[in-house]
Amino acid sequence: MSFENAKALDEAYIMHTFGRYPVEFVSGAGAVLLDENGKQYIDFLAGIGVVSLGHRHPAVQQALSRQLQRLWQSSNYFYDENRGELAKLLSELLSKKTDELGHINGSTGSVWKSFFSNSGAESNEGAFKVARRWGEKRLDGASGIITARKSFHGRTLATLAATGQDVFHKSFGPFPPGFASVPLNDIDAMVEAVEHPTEETGPVCGIMLECIQGEGGVWPADLDYVRDLRALCDEHGIALMVDEVQTGFFRTGAPFSFQLAGIEPDIVSMAKGIADGFPMGAVAARGEFGDMLVPGDHGSTFGGNALASAAGRATVETLISEGIGSHVFAAGCHLARRLEALPHVTEVRGRGLLRGAQLDVPIANELVEQGLEAGLILNHIGDSILRFLPPLVISYEQIDTMAERLGALIEKLA
Ligand SMILES: Cc1ncc(COP(=O)(O)O)c(C=O)c1O
Repeated sequence: MSFENAKALDEAYIMHTFGRYPVEFVSGAGAVLLDENGKQYIDFLAGIGVVSLGHRHPAVQQALSRQLQRLWQSSNYFYDENRGELAKLLSELLSKKTDELGHINGSTGSVWKSFFSNSGAESNEGAFKVARRWGEKRLDGASGIITARKSFHGRTLATLAATGQDVFHKSFGPFPPGFASVPLNDIDAMVEAVEHPTEETGPVCGIMLECIQGEGGVWPADLDYVRDLRALCDEHGIALMVDEVQTGFFRTGAPFSFQLAGIEPDIVSMAKGIADGFPMGAVAARGEFGDMLVPGDHGSTFGGNALASAAGRATVETLISEGIGSHVFAAGCHLARRLEALPHVTEVRGRGLLRGAQLDVPIANELVEQGLEAGLILNHIGDSILRFLPPLVISYEQIDTMAERLGALIEKLA
């Protein structure tokens, strides 16, 4: 009865902002979830790209259990060693240099300072505030922010304004002014938006980019385009913000996806994979950008609390000590090869373990529904894109099993 009860409670008392699938998961380990009947599902969603080390990773479990015995929340008025250690780890990871495949080959030596939040949207809000303070101090009050079409930056009003998809702009206006989007990978359009700002944005203080657009359908930015954006921002003294909420923490093989282009942004927003499923986000800023916000400018009651900091520190330490990046690179190539070989898949996009499979038949929704019956947790964007975001510890065998079951489902439904 527990599933029926969960469903009845949900229908009666929870806002219907998500269409739910008819399953309640009750436990999990690694890349596998179990429902209340003990049925196993291989997880290619990872709580929407969150459970980076897999479900109930012992390092995170132990860190959380230890912290549970000691203290949960004291607030940002006081020091917390885990919060500081995590921020130091983020600074070290953000300053890594990699090649175009994501192999670490040096450090820029930059120092990054972090602000901890509870979600991706909040991290982006923090990024906008840093960029606008920069505009106020260095650019005569410039406050415009340019993003890319098909981007997704969150569900708060400012992050919706930044999101370059009209479908999200219905009903909830007016939005904060100063945001506009231009087509991805079109450097001329971005130059035009920065050099001849419209009345809508006014003079521009920053650009925000996802190096691979996740929610929009797994659309990668060309590495040359990312480099051109860096040069454009340098030329005009404006902030380059990279939204690494979905792509961060080795999701693409590199610690952060911007490193694949060999550039350093000024401001980076993060969340999802940072704490293996414990709610946490961060915005980090480099050099002078890291000193833009001062006491009273920004805050969060829960952000960087004792439990989140313990989980985040354990997660990031383990991602590094297990050398997860090389596994993600190899497993990601394997996943892409298996997806490319499936019937009706016309293109596989993305990097590492963030992949999108384009179908030539509009059956993505049914594949996700029937995938559950076949013991697979899949995800779709629209009618014809499947998105794959498994825990980073997914095995080759689990990828093979998924590909076999998915191939059979496609044959059946197409
Ligand atoms: C790139 C990107 N930015 C921001 C967000 C918003 O994150 P959250 O749902 O944690 O607010 C998401 C969520 O999917 C995302 O993919």
